[in-house]
Amino acid sequence: MGKITVLRLGHRFFRDSRVTTHVCLTARAFGASGVVIADRQDKEVEATVRDVANRFGGRFEVTSGIAWRQVIREWKRSGGRIVHLTAYGLPLPKLIDEIQREPLDLLIVVGSEKVPGEVFRLADWNVSVTNQPMSEVAALAVFLDWFGEHREFEAEFQDAETVIVPSARGKIVKGRARKVASPETSC
Ligand SMILES: C[S@@+](CC[C@H](N)C(=O)[O-])C[C@H]1O[C@@H](n2cnc3c(N)ncnc32)[C@H](O)[C@@H]1O
Repeated sequence: MGKITVLRLGHRFFRDSRVTTHVCLTARAFGASGVVIADRQDKEVEATVRDVANRFGGRFEVTSGIAWRQVIREWKRSGGRIVHLTAYGLPLPKLIDEIQREPLDLLIVVGSEKVPGEVFRLADWNVSVTNQPMSEVAALAVFLDWFGEHREFEAEFQDAETVIVPSARGKIVKGRARKVASPETSC
């Protein structure tokens, strides 16, 4: 299995900041190596995601402002494959075995507003998570969970400053620098 990068299309300042941040955090939590936010540079979203990644550990790259065509062209040139998540694609259960057999790096493309038709043609697989419209964050989470066969539940993030301890009640957090059990800590 190669590495996974997510390409976020159609990001709009302010309006999409929260959803794009959630695309990044979801990608990270489910094992992707990074996210490229296409076309618009957004240093605030980058900084928010880096801050979470620094505190919660592991390696995760976030970049913004690169033209989507360039990202896809370079991805294809380096031999990677492209999955485009869209309500119009073939159902995930039909395609997942074929995609899982793919040893090359995967670029997972998610949109915001209207996605250019060219993306549908450039993708190796147009994959639907049901044929109903939904959030790109939800579609990405379901795809990565199926792709990784739930391994995200066993993932360990190296060099974490902050580790959440599973608990039936309340919030228990272990800090590397300071040992804390603080109910105020949040992402
Ligand atoms: C809110 S939707 C907007 C879709 C847009 N109306 C279009 O024409 O493509 C934003 C993104 O969520 C993802 N998405 C939405 N529904 C999906 C589904 N059922 N399966 C897979 N991805 C989906 C797609 O990546 C889509 O570009």
